[in-house]
Amino acid sequence: MSSDFGRVIRVSIFGQSHGEAIGAVIDGIPAGEKIDLDRMDAFMRRRAPGGKGASQRKEADRVRIVSGLVDGYTCGAPLCGIIENTDVRSADYKAMADIPRPMHADYPAHVRHGGYNDVRGGGHYSARLTAPLCFAGAVCMQLLERKGIMLAGHLLSAGKVQDAAFDPVNEEPKVLLQLLEKKLPVIDENAGEKMLAAAEEARQAGDSMGGSVELCVLGLPAGIGEPPFGGVENRLSQALYAVPAIKAIDFGCGREAALMRGSEHNDPYTVEDGRIKTLFNRHGGILGGLTTGMPLLLTCHFKPTPTIARQQQSVSLSKMENTLLSAGGRHDPCAALRAVPCVEAAAAIALYDLYLEAKAHGHPLLA
Ligand SMILES: Cc1cc2nc3c(=O)[nH]c(=O)nc-3n(C[C@H](O)[C@H](O)[C@H](O)COP(=O)(O)O)c2cc1C
Repeated sequence: MSSDFGRVIRVSIFGQSHGEAIGAVIDGIPAGEKIDLDRMDAFMRRRAPGGKGASQRKEADRVRIVSGLVDGYTCGAPLCGIIENTDVRSADYKAMADIPRPMHADYPAHVRHGGYNDVRGGGHYSARLTAPLCFAGAVCMQLLERKGIMLAGHLLSAGKVQDAAFDPVNEEPKVLLQLLEKKLPVIDENAGEKMLAAAEEARQAGDSMGGSVELCVLGLPAGIGEPPFGGVENRLSQALYAVPAIKAIDFGCGREAALMRGSEHNDPYTVEDGRIKTLFNRHGGILGGLTTGMPLLLTCHFKPTPTIARQQQSVSLSKMENTLLSAGGRHDPCAALRAVPCVEAAAAIALYDLYLEAKAHGHPLLA
């Protein structure tokens, strides 16, 4: 497995869904950075299960910092945070040791680890591992903020319900700040209510649904990125696909570009208050793998939660025969509803790493 990410900072994630604890180690953060633990706790609460439209597993998700922080400041040693697993019901997963859930990682993980993988709650493949990702991301968000860079996401869709989209050219910091305060981050509150109702309807039908999360990053200077293999899309994608159930990412207008002509798609340049900007932002703030200084915009598309409360066709791995699976456990009817902070966290880790790398490589604006 490859449970670590980063070139200048290195984030490593450990644990299993029903093990004793999960956590993350972040190596390479400069010493002397103040970390606001109350804000980090608040960020963790946005991802935690147990709320409306979410799995009813009850976890406090309190991060215990065991190294790297002295009197609230990073000390240069690896920053390690541990989160205990307290509300586990491993009996729910007995059947799945032999009968893999369709569309979950159970079968390929069984093959990859020769049957020794921890199936309880999905083990290391569980979305529970997005909790330490959020811890590392919450730290990186604070460090990015100190450089004038802020980011936030919202649910662009859940099932067939759509939220309003970000303003791609002139999005205001206050909109992002408001989203960061919300347990269900949506721009249009009515859409949020409808999304929760649709998720509840899917749950009652023993089913699940997909959704998408739009992310906006403000304040990124132009010229960050290490193309061709370490470009901004490359590195963001590598980090974002650590969030399970993401099946596609659109940067800027993304796949829609394939249906346009150059004259419709091109973003004209203009000078405004001594700054070069683009009139539109279909490029989503990235060209040639480098930031352009425009807001960075991307959308992550999530598949429906695989574990549903319906009998599904599967196989018995021990008997090598077809069989039916009735999966137990407490599950999210729509993974996307809980995924906004996970997307923010993964993006913050990748962008902070890219920022430090550009600085180390002599980016003229970051000296
Ligand atoms: C926040 C979040 C919550 C999730 N909750 C569940 C869940 O309750 N049950 C489930 O089967 N999958 C859930 N998933 C999705 C699975 O973890 C994921 O589909 C699985 O690990 C297979 O990985 P893949 O979909 O990326 O191929 C969730 C994903 C996220 C991001």
